[in-house]
Amino acid sequence: MANMTVFGAQWGDEGKGKIVDLLSADVACVVRYQGGNNAGHTVIVNGEKHVLHVIPSGILHEGTLCVIGNGVVLDPFVFLNELDNLEAKHIDTSPKRLFVSPKTQLIMPYHRVLDSAREAMKSAEGKIGTTGRGIGPCYEDKMARIGVRAGDLKDKDLLRRKIETALVEKNALFKNLYHVEEMDADKVFDEIMSIADRLIPYVQDTTALFYDLKKQGKSCLFEGAQGVMLDIDHGTYPFVTSSNTVCSNASVGSGIPAEFITEHIAIVKAYTTRVGAGPFPTELFDETGEYLQKKGGEFGATTGRTRRCGWFDACVLRECYRVCKPTTFALTKLDVLGGLDEIKICTGYMLNGEKLETPPCSAGDFAKAEPIYESLPGWKEDISSCLKYEDLPENAKKYVARLEELIGVKAGFVSVGPDRNQTIRR
Ligand code: GDP
Ligand code: IMO
Ligand code: MG
Repeated sequence: MANMTVFGAQWGDEGKGKIVDLLSADVACVVRYQGGNNAGHTVIVNGEKHVLHVIPSGILHEGTLCVIGNGVVLDPFVFLNELDNLEAKHIDTSPKRLFVSPKTQLIMPYHRVLDSAREAMKSAEGKIGTTGRGIGPCYEDKMARIGVRAGDLKDKDLLRRKIETALVEKNALFKNLYHVEEMDADKVFDEIMSIADRLIPYVQDTTALFYDLKKQGKSCLFEGAQGVMLDIDHGTYPFVTSSNTVCSNASVGSGIPAEFITEHIAIVKAYTTRVGAGPFPTELFDETGEYLQKKGGEFGATTGRTRRCGWFDACVLRECYRVCKPTTFALTKLDVLGGLDEIKICTGYMLNGEKLETPPCSAGDFAKAEPIYESLPGWKEDISSCLKYEDLPENAKKYVARLEELIGVKAGFVSVGPDRNQTIRR
């Protein structure tokens, strides 16, 4: 099998975890390359639900190696908590199969405080609606070259100095700007040291691991978090996350030459959802939106917030195609659309009297874009037990075919329910 990425094409929560889990059986290694525990990836196997925030969704397949790459921001406490949860289910999480790059940035307690304090101070229009997990502040410290990396856990003096340095600035902000309690460097250091011994065995040279796997002709799957529209450069800035979510970041975020990764699987939800603030032209505020929200169980896997719901937006997918060029896509949650008389697809926007085919660059313009819809007939059947493409109702097949036409590639997978086996492979 080729090395491949699996990434979100919209605003996250497309069902990446489910498809990564499915494909994990066929690869040697699954790698997270960006984001942190802002992600929530749900996998359901034989009715048992697993929600993974930082550990790759490949962990449920015995024998598949899992790597947390250098591009990730890792909250060590969340990581250990996730290990505990998996161990309680008798899933092997030993350092023989799970690795953390020494270059991975660690989310520190002060990053979480800064994230929440900053959001709290913003005006209602300015709020991004972050997950409050310290993602942005951790990436800021990485770029400012004052971040703490997983490898630093092995050097106590360096770790202490880094915490002290970071807190000089953070405490000035906490005290004078945000009016929250200052943090004590010794306490933060002790807190990190209390878990360091458990974490250190996982910190291993992942570049060497990838190199060995390549030499042996084994393949890796790179698991994206969030989605293209939340990309720090290509998304609806500033209503985005703080990393590059596009599939090309898999190379940088794990340390693998880009030419080694040849398959790119976009995960595409059959309608659109978004958590947090920001433009969303096809958002529905009526009973259809409520129908999708309820039937799709659209609650955030990380924060429990209700996800905003709307029609499928082909302009978003055109942008995804332009910046990522997926080789195929997996269409998820098609079952959720069942029961609707009519299904709409946004094929363009009107903005200031002009027709647009892709999202405008500015969030202000995006917020003003009016969707242009076409309408397709729905289907009444429950498709959640369809195992073959041919078994789908004619109108469901017509909907898939129209999306393929608009997206520009074929759907390699059609997902008709949350369980691993509710997937049609074509
Ligand atoms: P991710 O962040 O992209 O991995 O997606 P999430 O796990 O946050 O959200 C997707 C949700 O939809 C989860 O609750 C999945 O169990 C569920 N899901 C995935 N695929 C399907 C599907 O085809 N049909 C239905 N009904 N639910 C699905
Ligand atoms: P998965 O991987 C959906 C959103 C947040 C907020 C914005 C910035 O499960 O698809 P952050 O905490 O990253 O600074 O928040 O990004 N967001 C997500 N939305 N799915 C996710 O991950 C998300 N991760 C972040 O709601 O609007
Ligand atoms: Mg999610």
